[in-house]
Amino acid sequence: MLIFILCSTMKLLLLLVLLWTLSCSSLQAPSRDKCSCELKNSEKVFPHDRLKAVDKNASDCNSRVTPQKAEELEVLLLGLDRRLVQLQEDVSVLEKEDDGDLYGVLSLNVIHNEMTEIRLLLDKLNTTTEEQHKQTAATTHRLTQLKAEMEDLEQLDSMEVVKQRRTNHRLRTSLNRCLDKQNATVAPTQPLYGTCSQGPLKNVTGPWIQTAGEYPGSYPYGSWGRDPKPEPGKERWYWMVPMTSNNRHANYVRLYHSLYKLIGGETNIANVLISSSNPTTNTIQGPNVVLYGGSLYYNCYNQRQVCRFHLTTKTVTNVNLPQGTRYNSKGNFCHLDECYPYTDLDLATDESGVWVVYTTTQDFGNLVLSKVEEGEPPKLNQTWHTSVFKQGVTNTFVACGVLYATRYVSKDVEEIFYSFDTTTGKERFDVGIFVNKMSTNIQALNYSPVDQMLYAYCDSNMVSYKVLFG
Ligand SMILES: *[C@@H]1O[C@H](CO)[C@@H](O)[C@H](O)[C@H]1NC(C)=O
Ligand SMILES: *[C@@H]1O[C@H](CO)[C@@H](O)[C@H](O)[C@H]1NC(C)=O
Ligand SMILES: *[C@@H]1O[C@H](CO)[C@@H](O)[C@H](O)[C@H]1NC(C)=O
Ligand SMILES: *[C@@H]1O[C@H](CO)[C@@H](O)[C@H](O)[C@H]1NC(C)=O
Ligand SMILES: *[C@@H]1O[C@H](CO)[C@@H](O)[C@H](O)[C@H]1NC(C)=O
Repeated sequence: MLIFILCSTMKLLLLLVLLWTLSCSSLQAPSRDKCSCELKNSEKVFPHDRLKAVDKNASDCNSRVTPQKAEELEVLLLGLDRRLVQLQEDVSVLEKEDDGDLYGVLSLNVIHNEMTEIRLLLDKLNTTTEEQHKQTAATTHRLTQLKAEMEDLEQLDSMEVVKQRRTNHRLRTSLNRCLDKQNATVAPTQPLYGTCSQGPLKNVTGPWIQTAGEYPGSYPYGSWGRDPKPEPGKERWYWMVPMTSNNRHANYVRLYHSLYKLIGGETNIANVLISSSNPTTNTIQGPNVVLYGGSLYYNCYNQRQVCRFHLTTKTVTNVNLPQGTRYNSKGNFCHLDECYPYTDLDLATDESGVWVVYTTTQDFGNLVLSKVEEGEPPKLNQTWHTSVFKQGVTNTFVACGVLYATRYVSKDVEEIFYSFDTTTGKERFDVGIFVNKMSTNIQALNYSPVDQMLYAYCDSNMVSYKVLFG
């Protein structure tokens, strides 16, 4: 049996060798144990590397063209617009003034300063526009080149690599669409992560916007952002709450009717006063406040409570936190050896409303998260207990029902290292998303579900970041 198999194998081998020899036309000096053969492909090899280069160039091009560039220009133009109006007003004041020498000189100085500011803005505008022109020209040039290259490649494409790719791409797209549909019909109520279907937090890019807040140098604490559930007509408004007179309390909310007003340093803004500047029960304590549904949610002065101040009716209602909740600077966010005073309560907003993050004695200093319901008065609903120690955390925010915590890495970098999914109770300590800082400390951090941005108040600066999911 074994011999038979061997024999037939030998036969097969012989046959193969015979065929091989036949197919090779230019065999020289046939030696017994070697057989060589040259394969010539009359077709040109498809230049895959060139195709790859085109691919890469195209995606480079894509990443250079960002909406941020357009916004930069728009902000500059609005800033200029505002200053021109101011200049006009001041000039008309000067014209009306009697020529009492002193006043004349003072007004001239003011106008001189304004002119300087305008010149600086114009210079900036000039360089920005020029950069953009250059970039547009470069991009157009590149695209023309890429198009020519693609046409060239298609000529070479006897093996239809390019065509095939296009077909593959089409097929993949329709496959994905089909899968999407399938997922949608199979599990419409089963979110993949947290309460949103867009998946977990993937990255944070920016700073997107960075602009000076109030009291630079004196009071670095404060916060800013957007109301995720604004009253009609206030959809584009921004708010800011700077700590005043020290880093413990604040007594008013500043409102800006647009981002440009805020960046342009608008001075005619609405300040809504919550209490007098002497601290009382309703005074804001600590920087981590949020505006939601036209109301400011905050830790009120010297209380184990979340207060809610309605900006139009000016009424304050409140809800007690559980016994054992740390307050009055006893349960703060910290980095290295330093803690941020009066950061006991961190209010947060996400797609579902308002949350409060705090710690209690019975939780041994670990973070606790409660949902705040909007009713009259506000109420705490569900509460989740985590195993992350608050003193190892610099701040938190909630996005899509998932709590995220940050920690200090260096003066330039903060890391989102921790997450707690309230839909599953799952904790992760390896989130590993890094945030570029413009200054050392983040005193307040909040997520805005209306534009998927993070709003941070950093050493008197208002800074925002784009949040990417998926
Ligand atoms: C804009 O900048 C270019 C080059 O820096 C300069 O030649 C030009 O005069 C500038 N234009 C204005 C209006 O300042
Ligand atoms: C791709 O970009 C590089 C420069 O980044 C350029 O030198 C090269 O010619 C480009 N390739 C094509 C195919 O346009
Ligand atoms: C569909 O769901 C499966 C798991 O149920 C997942 O692996 C896949 O990525 C989903 N597809 C899309 C397009 O979301
Ligand atoms: C996040 O974005 C930064 C650029 O802002 C990039 O360098 C980094 O690779 C991104 N990280 C991930 C995980 O996508
Ligand atoms: C508490 O949360 C649950 C689950 O989200 C919700 O169904 C319920 O209405 C909430 N209670 C109040 C008082 O809002």
